[in-house]
Amino acid sequence: MSAGTGPFLAACRREPVPHTPVWFMRQAGRALPEYRRLRGSGSILQAIADPELSAEITLQPVRRYGVDAAILFSDIVVPVWATGFGVEIVPGRGPVVEHPIRSPADLRRLRPLEPEGDTGFVLETVRLVARELAPEVALIGFAGAPFTVASYLVEGGPSRDFARVKTLMHSDPTTWHELVERLAQMAIDSLSAQVAAGVDAVQLFDSWAGSLSPADYERFALPATRRVLDAVRALGVPTVLFGVGTGELLGLMSSAGPDVMGIDWRVPLDVARERVGPRRAVQGNLDPAVCLAPFEVVADETRAVLARAGTAAGHVFNLGHGVLPETDPGILGAVVELVHAEGRAGVRP
Ligand code: CP3
Repeated sequence: MSAGTGPFLAACRREPVPHTPVWFMRQAGRALPEYRRLRGSGSILQAIADPELSAEITLQPVRRYGVDAAILFSDIVVPVWATGFGVEIVPGRGPVVEHPIRSPADLRRLRPLEPEGDTGFVLETVRLVARELAPEVALIGFAGAPFTVASYLVEGGPSRDFARVKTLMHSDPTTWHELVERLAQMAIDSLSAQVAAGVDAVQLFDSWAGSLSPADYERFALPATRRVLDAVRALGVPTVLFGVGTGELLGLMSSAGPDVMGIDWRVPLDVARERVGPRRAVQGNLDPAVCLAPFEVVADETRAVLARAGTAAGHVFNLGHGVLPETDPGILGAVVELVHAEGRAGVRP
């Protein structure tokens, strides 16, 4: 059922909340012993293709931590993978592409997504999870933003300098725009199907957007991202836009129209609120590495995030990026309790 009333969705809409909602990016993953047990040593893409397994993995952190939202267990490369574009996820490294896109002719290998036929397993996972979740716990669907997915397809794998993707956008802007338009359409088709299957909100991961200058972000990434967010907003669910190292881009990213801006740990939330303006909620932004410290330190840093978030409505507590695999799950559980007890943004007195 739709969790139209829970604290996560209320905070996304900048409405009053009974407590500050919290979830963690990468909450379903290697930090959890019950995840490592279930996952075994098979490929993560095989696990994602198994709805019963993926639904269980999605629910594990909800049970363990008492978070206010579940995030679908899938990956940003699943739509391209499911359409037969050769991609693998290498443990400890990330997505690796067999034949990267480097020329206009390579675009022909990227066909449109047929959500039910290609990714029926993802939609089945959504249905299974939606059935199990308490009504006040939201289910977040997601997609990779066109720039970030394109970066894997063009670089062939994770990158430090994004030299090849920047070479393509600057030397052949026509091919670049065609590529991101196709990826935008894939994201729209995937997210529309996820919403129809029962997700309550959508996060668009533009994880690597922070590698772009503001001018390049505006020209080469923003238009396709805006198109995705416009299409999802029309479906009536809140949207979150997130990237890492995006301090200088927060104003531009906000202009793409998300309801919530994801903030990494480099920008204090009060500063972030100024940059994104009063009409957007913020999500973040405890440094994931801080969670490796003793709990007194984590508690101080959590309180510092809550203080910066202030009392105005519209704060979803999260980390500034994904949970690190070596994190003690007990620490994250204690962070959830602390945020629920002490968060003040939009909290009814
Ligand atoms: O709780 C959750 O967030 C789980 C669902 C999820 C996964 N990937 C599963 C996963 C989500 C939301 C993603 C998104 C994703 N995938 C992003 C955006 C978020 C971000 O971190 O910025 C990106 C950039 C990817 C691409 C990707 N997939 C990377 C960089 C990696 C890490 C490689 C590694 O092993 O460290 C993956 C693999 C991956 N996707 C894992 C998980 C749980 C870890 C591998 C495993 O458990 O086998």
